[in-house]
Amino acid sequence: MKILLLGKGGQVGWELQRSLAVVGDVVALDHDDGGDFTQPNQLLARVQALAPQVIVNAAAHTAVDKAESEPELARQINAGTPALLAIEAKRLGALLVHYSTDYVFDGSGSHARDEDAPIAPLSVYGATKAEGEEAIRASGCQHLILRTSWVYAARGGNFAKTMLRLASERDQLKVIADQIGAPTGADVLADLTAHMLRAARVNPALTGTYHAVAGGETSWHEYARFVIEFAREQGKAIKVAPDQILPIPTSDYPTPAKRPLNSRLSTAKLQQRFGLRLPHWQQGVARMLTEIL
Ligand SMILES: NC(=O)c1ccc[n+]([C@@H]2O[C@H](COP(=O)([O-])OP(=O)(O)OC[C@H]3O[C@@H](n4cnc5c(N)ncnc54)[C@H](OP(=O)(O)O)[C@@H]3O)[C@@H](O)[C@H]2O)c1
Repeated sequence: MKILLLGKGGQVGWELQRSLAVVGDVVALDHDDGGDFTQPNQLLARVQALAPQVIVNAAAHTAVDKAESEPELARQINAGTPALLAIEAKRLGALLVHYSTDYVFDGSGSHARDEDAPIAPLSVYGATKAEGEEAIRASGCQHLILRTSWVYAARGGNFAKTMLRLASERDQLKVIADQIGAPTGADVLADLTAHMLRAARVNPALTGTYHAVAGGETSWHEYARFVIEFAREQGKAIKVAPDQILPIPTSDYPTPAKRPLNSRLSTAKLQQRFGLRLPHWQQGVARMLTEIL
């Protein structure tokens, strides 16, 4: 099976290079080698020349706050070019795998949303990701759209590393406590992708939109506490006392882009239809911390 991977250098793209290698022959592209989403003609020419059976799109404009001031660029990368890819996938008879986000929802309430819940994005990033999803569904190509949340990886910067740095420098930390979601490892997402695309190639009835997040739920505040206490137990030098990691509301930390408060996503559909399991978020974060500490 020939697989074209786009966005190979991102958190998820990097892990996909590993997980897809056992599934097929992977051609992986980034900005600078023909996979630039702001150059759609060039990108489509590569797709046509390669004629892959599967296209996995891990490229995205993920700078949520920056997207507020560059909506056209975000729209092109998150919606315009994915829409063209979907048309090409349909023409080739290829399966298109694409990632989306909890930010397509407004985050009202306290329930876990399923895949059919109404979309109502609060930010440019969320709106452009929603447009991308809708264009892919409308194209009629075979697709898997995986909506995920709070993605982290051991490689590169992440929330846990930032908290560990601040916890070693400061006496007090203030962390948002009213946004609830599930930190999801790029490694788990990549492994899920490999299993799901193999199953969907055999049984096209499995294609569609799925929520793909780690098990359990937490706030950024609880997540920070977990990370810092884990590091303290491992003997890492931590300055902040446990009772000085203070919870604050989102309203105390204004950002250009509005974020949903309730990012709970139900993964029942994915688990039931694919027979796969989503490990608890603490399991993946503990593993990542063991790697980085
Ligand atoms: N990160 C999260 O918390 C999160 C949450 C929910 C959903 N998601 C979704 O999950 C997917 C993977 O996200 P991620 O965390 O792996 O993001 P990421 O680490 O930011 O990776 C995105 C990749 O896209 C590349 N890219 C940006 N502009 C591009 C362009 N014009 N042409 C080609 N490539 C371009 C980036 O390259 P450069 O770095 O060189 O710019 C990067 O390699 C995305 O669809 C994202 O929307 C992410």
